[in-house]
Amino acid sequence: MRGVTGEGNLSAAVMTVAVLTRGMKGILVFSVVVIVGFTLYNPVIIMKKKVEILSYLDKFMWRSKVPPAAINSSNVTQAEAHIDQPRAEPTPGPCHPNLAYNSLTSKLKPIYKDFMMYRHCREFPLLCRAASCDGEHTFLLLAIKSLAEHADRRASIRSTWGQERVVGGAVVRRVFLLGLTESQIRSQAVQALVDHESKQYNDIIQWGFRESFFNVTLKETLFWKWFSQDCRSVKFVFKGDDDVFVNVDNVVEYLKEYNPSHDLYVGDVFQNWYPTRAEHSKYFIPLFLYGKKPYPPYAGGGGYLLSGTSIFKLHKAAEDEELFPIDDAFVGICAQRAKIEVIAHRGFRTYGNIPYDPCIYRGLMVVHRVTPNELWLIWSLLKINRKPCSQFTRVSVKP
Ligand SMILES: *[C@@H]1O[C@H](CO)[C@@H](O)[C@H](O)[C@H]1NC(C)=O
Ligand SMILES: *[C@@H]1O[C@H](CO)[C@@H](O)[C@H](O)[C@H]1NC(C)=O
Ligand SMILES: *[C@@H]1O[C@H](CO)[C@@H](O)[C@H](O)[C@H]1NC(C)=O
Repeated sequence: MRGVTGEGNLSAAVMTVAVLTRGMKGILVFSVVVIVGFTLYNPVIIMKKKVEILSYLDKFMWRSKVPPAAINSSNVTQAEAHIDQPRAEPTPGPCHPNLAYNSLTSKLKPIYKDFMMYRHCREFPLLCRAASCDGEHTFLLLAIKSLAEHADRRASIRSTWGQERVVGGAVVRRVFLLGLTESQIRSQAVQALVDHESKQYNDIIQWGFRESFFNVTLKETLFWKWFSQDCRSVKFVFKGDDDVFVNVDNVVEYLKEYNPSHDLYVGDVFQNWYPTRAEHSKYFIPLFLYGKKPYPPYAGGGGYLLSGTSIFKLHKAAEDEELFPIDDAFVGICAQRAKIEVIAHRGFRTYGNIPYDPCIYRGLMVVHRVTPNELWLIWSLLKINRKPCSQFTRVSVKP
């Protein structure tokens, strides 16, 4: 281990010595040392420190005195104007709110009114552009929805399952999909961090719209548009959140059976799900947004696979659909319009707790709700534990 300074590293060294002198107590003790080691010198922590320092500086040097309520879409436009990244395309004119929804009832949370007033706004400038689709031979593109502040999640993904590499002859590339968060609009430090990552890794696409739970669908359609214009030779896409673990080897093995010029849409499928009508829920959908029928079948948004061909079709289909606030259900709506069938696969676990058994992870494709530290843990367990797994825990990649 490098740079043995400070208390933490000292205790790691002490522990290592203790382990050596007491004699090996097997994998358990060994893993403790490995985990402590990882915690001490993993880039996630370093990155977190960096973010802390940056936001500290930010507080004292740059913080604007405007309370959050004073931030509105005119600020987003202002913020866009000040980002001096090269523009990939001319900035579209500002999109004006649809004032017909100004009187939308006070019973609904403000986000519903905001959504309705700006639902027709679908063109936003590209502020950062990734190199992920340069080159012809990408087999699988990992497209990960992230937020500007989630630098720690991006760092852990880059150094674990999201590494750009060749898996069994297949080129795997990566891109993070970002908008502008409110803190980013106010804080130059957060944008500086994103710009820095973008320069360093060339894997960030950022559009000039304001991030919110109901704007994730907008991100989806902008991604489809970008893909259809700039990524036409990519064969398959994994689309997911920045809090998932993906077993990329299994995904590639699975995808090799498929023809990328056919449709493919596979994941953890929701069949016959109805919109949530509980008003306090974050997923609440009023009747005027979606009638009394169930959603078409769709794959849970935590992580699913699409063929490039299917994305072109979804992009076309989306042009005839109004945006719908629940992004994964919206994909299902567009898939139905494009006559793309969704396939259920039990390797996609978008719900539930999965025990830390490397044998289980070895058989899965996607596991949702994983923190950066857990990602490191799973990743190192998969690397360390090379023993064969029993038939019971080994889940087949084949459907
Ligand atoms: C944004 O706020 C300013 C005042 O702070 C106001 O004049 C403007 O109309 C607001 N814009 C929108 C789109 O709400
Ligand atoms: C946001 O916009 C309002 C009104 O246009 C302005 O008063 C305020 O200074 C802006 N805030 C920032 C951080 O630019
Ligand atoms: C979505 O983004 C647009 C553009 O930044 C913004 O005007 C709108 O308020 C956002 N919608 C929601 C629901 O946050």
